[in-house]
Amino acid sequence: MKLLVIGSGGREHALVWKLSQSPRVTKIYCTPGNGGTDSIATNVAIAADSLEALRDFALETAIDFTVVGPDDLLAAGIVDLFRASGLRIFGPTANAARLESSKSFAKDFMVRHGIPCAASRVFQNSREAREYCRSTVYPLVIKADGLALGKGVIIAENLQTAEDAIHRMMDLKFFGSAGSSIVIEEFLKGSECSIHALVDGNSALIFPDAKDHKRVFDGNQGPNTGGMGTVSPCPALSDSLRQQIQDEILDPFLLGLRVDGIDFSGMLFPGLMLTASGPKVLEFNCRFGDPETQSLLRRLKSDLLDLLEACEQGKLALMKPEWDERSATCVVLASGGYPGAYEKGKEITGIQPAESIGDVVVFHAGTVRKEGKLLTNGGRVLGVTALGTPLSAAVKTAYEAADKIQFENQKRRSDIGADECPSEFKSS
Ligand code: AMP
Ligand code: GLY
Repeated sequence: MKLLVIGSGGREHALVWKLSQSPRVTKIYCTPGNGGTDSIATNVAIAADSLEALRDFALETAIDFTVVGPDDLLAAGIVDLFRASGLRIFGPTANAARLESSKSFAKDFMVRHGIPCAASRVFQNSREAREYCRSTVYPLVIKADGLALGKGVIIAENLQTAEDAIHRMMDLKFFGSAGSSIVIEEFLKGSECSIHALVDGNSALIFPDAKDHKRVFDGNQGPNTGGMGTVSPCPALSDSLRQQIQDEILDPFLLGLRVDGIDFSGMLFPGLMLTASGPKVLEFNCRFGDPETQSLLRRLKSDLLDLLEACEQGKLALMKPEWDERSATCVVLASGGYPGAYEKGKEITGIQPAESIGDVVVFHAGTVRKEGKLLTNGGRVLGVTALGTPLSAAVKTAYEAADKIQFENQKRRSDIGADECPSEFKSS
């Protein structure tokens, strides 16, 4: 089969890496891809947002199956467009992807179907939003309704920060139309956890859980990023909590889809807060997480193409994937300045020595090959992954490998997995 993977991040490199192991795959194209995908796939320079150009390429190249990475393409209707041309594609339609692309739509869905989440209010008017902020308790959370590259969520500790956030989102239109309406919600305390489940309308096939580290600095300080590193499984989850997530979140989600007539097919990735009063949904994502995917796919022993096709064909209930019992870690190496402004074009060295350590795979994100050199080309540059038992062994190996990789102004968190295996961090 000829596959097309759309996107250019670490998630897409991990998808290409895993899909390339399927004996049924003869060729993979990646648009636009990165400096890592080009060694196992053919990178094609089509901008990830040119929906028609992507569809035309898939038709001309007789692509058998397409896998989409980024959320904005799903929200823009790439699945609808491909299907209308008779092309097979993995992911939700634009209508179903509203569960990610509109936080107010998702909130309304959760409230109506009894899915636990933070209490919230939606505002279309900045004056009313400000008035509300003057009469409530802090901290509170202010979210642009639409997609904002992971930057549209502000935790406001006081009225001043809340008013600034509202002004930037609604009056100055920092996130364009994504901030025309905002959700203001209760601040939830607890530990975060990422759930991934393939959903085909009839059933949900749950992947192992993972934990992301969203803030840019150690100790969960600084602004939110797309994610600075993951561990899988999520050590804070007990079996009884997993069951509670199934009963209180995934089952009502599937029922809600049926009641509302939403035809959801694809990856559902709810971000959860494990609070003292149980797990609550922070947001629904309708795609693979990045960098969760890098850790999860290291643990998948079965054929990923089989799973994605079964999802697209509504046959998930027949699938019983096997997972590596070992834990996985992904440590992101980023450009200095990320998630703010950063420079590109720095030479990267040391990937081969890093990967010569057993059980290490380095996934590329913002990288490009030019004149025989590998250069930085984005905020998140690489994701260094390792497997091990216990989790502390995976963490130790990932950092050992990360130490071998150099580029100017490299930045990384040095505490991925620290909450879960503190002894490893004390001794290092
Ligand atoms: P979201 O895009 O909604 O997942 O938000 C991004 C990040 O903001 C989450 O991963 C949390 O770290 C944080 N966050 C979002 N909503 C809340 C909330 N209600 N309480 C506490 N933290 C939150
Ligand atoms: N790592 C968080 C996300 O993909 O949204």
